[in-house]
Amino acid sequence: MTSSQEQFVQKEIQKISLPSANTMRLLEINSNPEHCLQDVIDLVKLDSALTARTLRIVNSAAFCPLVPINSIDRAVSYLGEKMIVGIAVTESCGKILNQPLEGYESPAGDLWKHDLFTAFAAKEVARYAKNGMEADLAFTAGLLHDIGKPVLSKLLENASKTTIDALDHGEAKDYLAAEKLVSGVEHAEVGYQLAKYWQLPAPIAAAIRFHHNPSEAIEEFQPLVYAVHLGDIIAMMSGYSTGSDSLQYTLDSHYENFFTFSSNELTKIISDTETAFRPALESLAGKEEN
Ligand SMILES: [Fe+2]
Ligand SMILES: [Fe+2]
Repeated sequence: MTSSQEQFVQKEIQKISLPSANTMRLLEINSNPEHCLQDVIDLVKLDSALTARTLRIVNSAAFCPLVPINSIDRAVSYLGEKMIVGIAVTESCGKILNQPLEGYESPAGDLWKHDLFTAFAAKEVARYAKNGMEADLAFTAGLLHDIGKPVLSKLLENASKTTIDALDHGEAKDYLAAEKLVSGVEHAEVGYQLAKYWQLPAPIAAAIRFHHNPSEAIEEFQPLVYAVHLGDIIAMMSGYSTGSDSLQYTLDSHYENFFTFSSNELTKIISDTETAFRPALESLAGKEEN
């Protein structure tokens, strides 16, 4: 990356608002293997906006409980930790994740759908981990994995054709290499710089940095990073992509060291992801207020 490209990326990163203190605290709780649901409930209770939004969502048409839920304890238990993370991240990062990505020829909303589908797919994949893993953390890492794209998109603007040409002409082996050829940096690296600037928890930052090259992550984080890697590819296979880079990445088959599922189970992962994704998308988009 040239120094002017580097400066551009750093400037763009600093333009983005930091997530709220409570969102950061929630991400820390979520990344701590020792945490319990009560820690999440206690945090939500401290935040009146998050409390109000959680209660509105749990009683929305998308989830429609049999009887109205008025307590935050029941609401968090009903929705699960993943949806609380989804609500908080939507509040804090919704603007950046919902914008159009001109550099990827991707309209507004596509990145958010891709991220949300990846999150649910990574969570489903986590259930097939050989040594067990934190499924809710896989969800969070999936939700944030492409956070570098809105920043890099600005550097790739007017260059998406050059990026695709680099792939078509065999100058780049995948979209990541094409991004690097055209802009000097790849979206996973830019995302990692943003993660460091925000001081995101280390496992989430690792998933952002290595979601296309999971074998390069440190051993401790590899199961999580592979879950996001698979979730990302499942999202693209299911039609939730961000424009020009759809399925232009390589699947690392070493995921088999960490997960075991048959092709029938993969079909189930995809259908369970779709089932969980629909109401989440509908409610997080604010349709419950209609
Ligand atoms: Fe990516
Ligand atoms: Fe992705």
